[in-house]
Amino acid sequence: MPVSTNQLSVNPLASNATCTDDNTSNPAKTVDISHILAFLGCKTPKKWLDAAVKNLPIIIQDHANCEKKAGGTAMNLIFRYQNAEHDELQRKLAQLIREEMLHYEQVLQIMTERGQPWQYLSAGRYAGGMLKHKRTYEPEAMIDVLIIGAYIEARSCERFAALSQVIDDEKLARYYRYLLKSESRHYEDYLYLAQSLATESIDERVAFFRGVENELILTPDGELRFHSGIPNWI
Ligand SMILES: [Fe+2]
Ligand SMILES: [Fe+2]
Repeated sequence: MPVSTNQLSVNPLASNATCTDDNTSNPAKTVDISHILAFLGCKTPKKWLDAAVKNLPIIIQDHANCEKKAGGTAMNLIFRYQNAEHDELQRKLAQLIREEMLHYEQVLQIMTERGQPWQYLSAGRYAGGMLKHKRTYEPEAMIDVLIIGAYIEARSCERFAALSQVIDDEKLARYYRYLLKSESRHYEDYLYLAQSLATESIDERVAFFRGVENELILTPDGELRFHSGIPNWI
């Protein structure tokens, strides 16, 4: 699915921006993420949302880090699987990298506008908690990384939607709603690539990672990050 030029040229941070290609005034009500929720199998717990609202600068900084890491991970895949057999992967990931870098730039702009200085944040347990189950032989290793990528993108989408409903900063909420479209496409692209590169159904592997992912989201976590579990300090 090609990215529209519109999507890249629109400035969602402008005060009059509507953040969607279809120019609607309330994108939250127009984006249906039920397929994302069905894929994920569980919603973000309220306790995480409460902690996120109270610690928005951490969430914003970690979001910036996530955009950068998403671009970096996709770039690693592009270098690792560069041959004619992976032409579609190359093209889809090149588009994804372009979009993640745009998001990174936009989040940095949000931080500047909010007067929020850049701060170092260690990586949370989420991505590593899934990657430790990655198989070590090909093409299974690649398929697992793509499935994990699908979960990270899908969870991001679900959390942007949830955050946009509860934060006071309407401009930031609008930006989170704007992100839903591309992050949901990233999830679909990763899942599509995983299946297209496999010779058998990946359903069982997807279900396995759903269990791992849900445990990371629904168990106590000592750190607050964009993809962290249930805060154990409140
Ligand atoms: Fe992104
Ligand atoms: Fe993404």
